[in-house]
Amino acid sequence: MSKIRKSSHFVNINLNVRGLVQSATLLINERSNELIKKGITVYKLGLGQSPFPVPDIIQEALRRNAHQKDYLPVKGLLPLREAISEFNFRRQGIKCSAEDIMIGPGSKELIFILQLVYYGELIIPTPSWVSYSPQARIAGRHVTWVPTTEENDWRLSPEKLDIICRSDPDRPRVVILNYPSNPTGSTYPKARLKKLAEVARKYNIILISDEIYGLIDHSGEHISIAKYYPEGTIISSGLSKWAGAGGWRLGTFTFPENLRWLQNAMAIVASETYTSTSAPIQYAAITAFQDHPEIDNYLHHVRRVLKTLGNYMANRLKAKNISMPSPKGGFYLFLNFQFYRNKLATKGILTSFEMCETLLKETGIAVLPGSDFGRQPEELTCRLAYVDFDGKMVLNKAMTEYDSTPLDDVFLIKYCGKMIDALTKMENWLDNL
Ligand SMILES: Cc1ncc(COP(=O)(O)O)c(C=O)c1O
Repeated sequence: MSKIRKSSHFVNINLNVRGLVQSATLLINERSNELIKKGITVYKLGLGQSPFPVPDIIQEALRRNAHQKDYLPVKGLLPLREAISEFNFRRQGIKCSAEDIMIGPGSKELIFILQLVYYGELIIPTPSWVSYSPQARIAGRHVTWVPTTEENDWRLSPEKLDIICRSDPDRPRVVILNYPSNPTGSTYPKARLKKLAEVARKYNIILISDEIYGLIDHSGEHISIAKYYPEGTIISSGLSKWAGAGGWRLGTFTFPENLRWLQNAMAIVASETYTSTSAPIQYAAITAFQDHPEIDNYLHHVRRVLKTLGNYMANRLKAKNISMPSPKGGFYLFLNFQFYRNKLATKGILTSFEMCETLLKETGIAVLPGSDFGRQPEELTCRLAYVDFDGKMVLNKAMTEYDSTPLDDVFLIKYCGKMIDALTKMENWLDNL
């Protein structure tokens, strides 16, 4: 008698998806929460989520728009697209019209559908944000990783990009440039942006300039490469990082007019998949992109806190022979434990993954291994997100008690205690290796 076949036989997964695992940043968050449930103290430095609340004025706008219930246009609500085009001019001096803007449920989704509809290879520096490469794989695109060096703060060099493009100059290509960078916290100075723009122009590259952390450049002086390569740059941004609204799911793309064909193709896919971005969120986002002193004040204090905490953490870790680029924007440090290689090896730790697992087990500190960002597994790097503090309280203290006093170590010790504890734990762990 023939045996009944198990139903698992029929689980056939698209080969582009087979073998992929859930996004690393989301997994580390789930893992941290499980440990917390078991009563273990976990320092959640894995997930890159803003600790700050959504500015009150934007929350109020959402409350006022709770009744908005209609499906909205695929490319986005016109008044919102208008507000974003004005915002681009006000903040960056970039001229564009409402038609050049596309709204999506997070910039992640927009980057994905661009990879799906554009036929070409993806070029990204290593290290890069965790999702670019898996998205390319799902879309069936080839990924070329461009090596970078720590001496150069892990940034894409125009010369290396040129070498890659030279061998096949007409190949269609998308380059994603993300700055301030996740995972490194570094950014590109004007001169470097100009050189990268020259190479991009030479090879007709489509550049996605992922500026999701632009407004939280610690100096407040973020510059878009769209200024130097306007005809080929798509600016990717949204509310997730600067407005602390990751869960609201609103992302924005600003296209040059001559890439309207690409925007239209993306809109077709959007119309057949997510339809349009949540209506109340889009109405509320109009306020976020308008000129309001409350928002400028919020950003001023968010940047102060991030700058002070980032530098403090970097200095203490550098004193322990951990190297990293100095933090310039966003809320990440990309740590290199090379100095401890031999000591780690005696504990059987040979990869960044093993290092992060052991660190979590022995100290409760959750960080992500460099290998999640495209680095070689045996390189002992990891990304630390300095976000485990009560952003609402800290922002309030910075705005009131410390409004006219520089933020200092005392402020951090008093109000970002958990970050300081994590640092001390890490230092002790290193001392005892
Ligand atoms: C570099 C980078 N780009 C894009 C995104 C996606 O942001 P969202 O989809 O929330 O707009 C993130 C989120 O972590 C990010 O770090």
